[in-house]
Amino acid sequence: MTIIRVPKSWEIPEQEATPESVYFNRRRFLKTLVGAGVGATIMPIVGCKQGEQVNSKLADSLDTASLAAEPNSTFSTVDRPTTDIILAGQYNNYYEFGSGKSIWQAAQALPTEDWKVEVTGLVKNPRTYDLDDLQKTFPIEERLYRFRCVEAWSMVIPWIGFPMKSLIAAVEPTDNAKFVSFTSYYDKEITVGPLWSLGKKLPWPYTEGLRLEEMANDLAFFAIGNYGHMLPKQHGAPIRAVLPWKYGFKGAKAIAKIEFLDTQPPTFWNTIDSHEYDFEANVNPNKPHPRWSQASEKFISKGPGLKWEKRPTLPYNGYGDYVANLYV
Ligand code: MTE
Repeated sequence: MTIIRVPKSWEIPEQEATPESVYFNRRRFLKTLVGAGVGATIMPIVGCKQGEQVNSKLADSLDTASLAAEPNSTFSTVDRPTTDIILAGQYNNYYEFGSGKSIWQAAQALPTEDWKVEVTGLVKNPRTYDLDDLQKTFPIEERLYRFRCVEAWSMVIPWIGFPMKSLIAAVEPTDNAKFVSFTSYYDKEITVGPLWSLGKKLPWPYTEGLRLEEMANDLAFFAIGNYGHMLPKQHGAPIRAVLPWKYGFKGAKAIAKIEFLDTQPPTFWNTIDSHEYDFEANVNPNKPHPRWSQASEKFISKGPGLKWEKRPTLPYNGYGDYVANLYV
């Protein structure tokens, strides 16, 4: 008997699911989306002029320069639809610009011109890259990844960037290098987010870290774009870390420094509360957060409007085949 397999809706490649960046004028497309009320339950689309101005600014903040990249066929489909660009671009975590989700407007203050990333520490070839150097040195590709926040919400985002292992090959860590630390941009005049949280002084700048073997894993990725364009500021422009098997807080935004080290570096959330935010932070349905269960997640599904779908959390966020061997 011949079985004809009909692809399920969630197997539609990202390009087909969100053709906007490829086929349409992006600004017009985004404005149409916000006008149509996509994301309306996050940010009410009101009929008044003020509401229209806010919506237009949101569309502008996502209307960054085009960035074309071939999809990596290994990571071009996932088991759920791509999150709408407007939803993803207005529901963020970025403490440097505030503790709420609606930081997209404040984040536009981030000065991304002449960005430099210093790669330093225990490496044979330390180097400071600007954005142009990064694009010339490391071939970019598109990867559709599941994204899971420790707060239990989740999305699917098409990232554009390059694997972290390419940077490792370029800078050649020495034998003593066992960890890496990422430091985000911080300037208290510009990044005006809270100085205190949970009764603790926040250890700015935002830092995150990995074991070197984790950084060398196929999945570990530096994103300089998403949805076919350069990274919008609210998502961590101009370069951020994306680690789809870990909780989202491991993915530092606006990285200014990458340092290779022989000991585990202190990191932002782990310094604030190591029980709530462990250094490893792998997505694990069987390990509850001290204040909530991680057994299920709220998936922000495609618009129009915000729909939360409850789904079971997958071990390693569904990426166990790639990373489980790192944790035996
Ligand atoms: N990076 C910096 N510098 N500052 C932050 O507050 N928040 C983290 C991570 N990277 C954060 C950060 C958290 S908790 C999450 S869930 C993701 O960014 C959110 O990424 P998104 O806003 O692009 O969805």
